[in-house]
Amino acid sequence: MKSYLVTGAANGIGRAIALALAEPGDSAILNDLTFSHELESLVQELEQKGVSVQIALGDVSAQATVQQAFSGVQRLDVLVNNAGILNEAPITQMSFEQWDKMLRVHLYGTFLFSQQAARLMTRQGSGAIVNIASDLGQLGCANLCHYSAAKGGIIAFTKALARELAPQGVRVNAVAPGGTLTPMVERLGPAYIKEEAARYPLQRLGSAQEIANSVVFLASNNASFTTGQVLGVNGGGVMNG
Ligand code: NAI
Repeated sequence: MKSYLVTGAANGIGRAIALALAEPGDSAILNDLTFSHELESLVQELEQKGVSVQIALGDVSAQATVQQAFSGVQRLDVLVNNAGILNEAPITQMSFEQWDKMLRVHLYGTFLFSQQAARLMTRQGSGAIVNIASDLGQLGCANLCHYSAAKGGIIAFTKALARELAPQGVRVNAVAPGGTLTPMVERLGPAYIKEEAARYPLQRLGSAQEIANSVVFLASNNASFTTGQVLGVNGGGVMNG
């Protein structure tokens, strides 16, 4: 029996993670921007699996959302910082607001939720935080300076927090997905998806389930000696020594 929290849980990777982590008797806290049909059906699916669900709606970068998500929570075993957005702009045309929002959602959201989780987990002497980064945070991507910077920031944050919390029994890791077939990418159209797939040695995009599988591993005791790592689930798109 564990308690876990997933941000941006209604769709795509977050949804797959919320379902993949679920075991009977668990309690889940699900965050997303608004209450949607997708969120409603996710809650039903989780309840059918014997998971009790609490919902915390709102922008992850707002302190009020974080407070709501953690209110009354006495114990948290797993936090997954997943909520994210994607939009393209060349640097010469990127507005301050675009840059600001990108960093807020990814970096401030990850900071705020991790801070609250760390307060509980260090008291417990156990816990696992998994941050969803991106291969673009490792490679960089044209017209995505803001997204690349935010994801690179999440990777550095993961390593720093892993060092800080390790002595207290809390592990912090990141998963860096490559292109994954979710609503975020489906919105970009079939031509983009085909071109994107060719970029990866495995010649395809990933599924949300494939990303979720690696999150389940990092969140579990099977990864008990793993902290501060960036697990690339990217069809071979990034190969580091
Ligand atoms: P998605 O767009 O399919 O789902 C994202 C979810 O997050 C949505 O339910 C959305 O409502 C929610 N969300 C967006 N902004 C939010 C906010 N400020 N506060 C709370 N919830 C918010 O996206 P997808 O593809 O599932 O992405 C999930 C994570 O994976 C993101 O961090 C994304 O950057 C990352 N990622 C995705 C890749 C892909 O190819 N799909 C590749 C690499 C990383």
